[in-house]
Amino acid sequence: MNETIDTILSHRSIRKFKDEKLTKEQIHTIVQSAQQASTSSFVMAYTIIGITDESKKQALMEVSGQPYVKNNGHLFVFCGDLHRANVLGERAKNADHASITETIESTEQFIVTVIDTALAAQNAVLAAESMGLGACFLGSLRNDINKVNDLLNLPKHVVPLFGLAVGYPDQQPEIKPRPAIETIYHENNYLEDEKQAQFIGEFDKKLKDYYNKRSTNTRIDTWTEQMIRKYSNPQRLDVTPFLHSKQLNKR
Ligand SMILES: Cc1cc2nc3c(=O)[nH]c(=O)nc-3n(C[C@H](O)[C@H](O)[C@H](O)COP(=O)(O)O)c2cc1C
Repeated sequence: MNETIDTILSHRSIRKFKDEKLTKEQIHTIVQSAQQASTSSFVMAYTIIGITDESKKQALMEVSGQPYVKNNGHLFVFCGDLHRANVLGERAKNADHASITETIESTEQFIVTVIDTALAAQNAVLAAESMGLGACFLGSLRNDINKVNDLLNLPKHVVPLFGLAVGYPDQQPEIKPRPAIETIYHENNYLEDEKQAQFIGEFDKKLKDYYNKRSTNTRIDTWTEQMIRKYSNPQRLDVTPFLHSKQLNKR
């Protein structure tokens, strides 16, 4: 073990923050750490938008329905961004702009932008956590992806993927357990469904115990029940037409 592994294995999402803003230096270090993540073909297909305008924070909180979108040390919105590359193509005299746009609008490049953004964001989280801060990702901003897009004036080829609230923790939640490694790490072949079911059954028991005993928000639940509930309820189906309206993931 070392300090980096300790930080990674101590991760838990923080959803209640002290009323203290991050300094410019802290924000800079977090963003710089995000930027240093690996990036497919060095495309760096993301943009990070810091929200300091309280009225925008309020509006984003209303989209998410989660108070920690407003009450935090700093709010970042992580956007997949292929606009930057498209502008390069537009401006370069010797480039075939039509081909560049065709590339940018493909599913492959959409996958690239989502991966790049997520890698950068996880680096940001680790940087924040290593500084004694806490963080929570906010997929809830996609509850109304069109509204977030309009609030942030995002151009074509840029989409808000998720938010990240960072700040000084005002709670100390227990670390949420994970399933046995064998559930998600398979060697050479995908694991048979029977074995998978066995590992998940064991995890259900472990998670049920965690939910039952944790210091706040105790409940009776298992991972299986959570997933059945989640996938039985199709959500955010407006994201597909939104992506198409942004000229992404088209072919
Ligand atoms: C992309 C992404 C989006 C998430 N969106 C939300 C969210 O909108 N609200 C929230 O409270 N937690 C959100 N989370 C946090 C997860 O619920 C949390 O990571 C998961 O339950 C595991 O708990 P842990 O982070 O405490 O280990 C999100 C996590 C990820 C990776």
